[in-house]
Amino acid sequence: MILVTGGAGFIGANFVLDWLAQSDETVINLDKLTYAGNMENLASIADDPRHIFVQGDIGDSALMTQLLQTHQPRAVINFAAESHVDRSILGPEDFIQTNVVGTFHLLESVRAYWTAMDESAKSAFRFLHVSTDEVYGSLGPDDAPFTETTPYAPNSPYSASKAASDHLVRAYHHTYGLPVLTTNCSNNYGPLQFPEKLIPLVMMNAVAGKALPIYGDGLNVRDWLYVGDHCSAIRTVLAHGKLGEVYNVGGWNEKANIDVVKTICTMLDDLHAGSPVTPHADLITYVKDRAGHDRRYAIDATKLQRELGWMPSETFETGIRKTVAWYLANQTWVANIASGEYRHWVEKQYGSKA
Ligand code: NAD
Ligand code: DAU
Repeated sequence: MILVTGGAGFIGANFVLDWLAQSDETVINLDKLTYAGNMENLASIADDPRHIFVQGDIGDSALMTQLLQTHQPRAVINFAAESHVDRSILGPEDFIQTNVVGTFHLLESVRAYWTAMDESAKSAFRFLHVSTDEVYGSLGPDDAPFTETTPYAPNSPYSASKAASDHLVRAYHHTYGLPVLTTNCSNNYGPLQFPEKLIPLVMMNAVAGKALPIYGDGLNVRDWLYVGDHCSAIRTVLAHGKLGEVYNVGGWNEKANIDVVKTICTMLDDLHAGSPVTPHADLITYVKDRAGHDRRYAIDATKLQRELGWMPSETFETGIRKTVAWYLANQTWVANIASGEYRHWVEKQYGSKA
């Protein structure tokens, strides 16, 4: 049995679905169901006895202790986080609360559980912390990609809170011997991503004939990885990673934002000819830049490839085509999200342009 936190969100839900497609090992899925958590993501496994969903907070020590004692998982995989950079700029407190304080309490619950185990269970146990490339800061155009030894230089409240959690995880290994693994991944895209992030936001707006907001000059670069490849990297690190080690995960797919958006527009011209506005690129609208906007991220995932044999299976071209097709086929999923609290966020972030 494994325990996953944040498994109703984008990557966590993809991970749980992929896991149960390949294994009969039960998953306990602990998620607070913040605005980003969505039970619809897990609808296909609602009646699956291998999936036990529990609504709760990683920072709730009593709940975590009870879950660990009752189910005795052999691993904890921590996806739970506040994850959107723009939200961290407008309101950092939740990020500190969940990503820093919440991770600390989770580590304490896990440490107590692990300490009480017998020696063989102790050495088999793993705590895998899912983190981000944003902890390394921003690259210039000619800088080499981030490696596992690149010094941390987080620039947003989000990345600073993730960096703090990474340091705590590292310290729990160094000080207490907790068997931890950390992954630092680049930008994910794919099915089930909340439409506050660039790719699903552009999909949702383009289909509705609304403006496609590009921050600044649109030349900021991200290194895109299909979410299924992130899930396979996490499974690989969980199975074969060396204790206490960090593994960078990336897709060797650096793209400027404007190029990503133009690619989606061209695909939509082809796949969604009935849109209110075509060509879809006519909807591209340059807007005010993000405060402190990191210019470029690029991940060197050579260590994961060389030591553990992982490689992504999607190129950006195959992955984005699948993703565009998924959003077109799942308009009800998008419509169910695009209401309530989310509409309030769009008004706050994009004002009258929304
Ligand atoms: P997401 O925002 O889609 O999902 C986060 C999930 O965590 C939600 O289901 C939410 O309800 C849950 N959650 C939030 N606070 C919680 C708490 N206190 N206790 C329990 N559950 C809580 O995020 P995502 O994009 O799926 O990211 C998952 C993880 O991967 C995060 O740790 C993020 O930092 C990391 N990551 C994301 C990306 C990316 O491109 N999205 C890339 C690299 C790393
Ligand atoms: O690099 C990994 C990180 O990728 C993860 O740790 C984060 O959880 C995840 O949200 C993502 O962060 P980014 O800030 O890179 O992703 P986002 O989709 O918000 O933005 C991608 C790029 O697109 C970024 O340069 C900002 C830009 N952008 C974003 C939005 C929402 C726009 O130009 N317009 C927009 O409306």
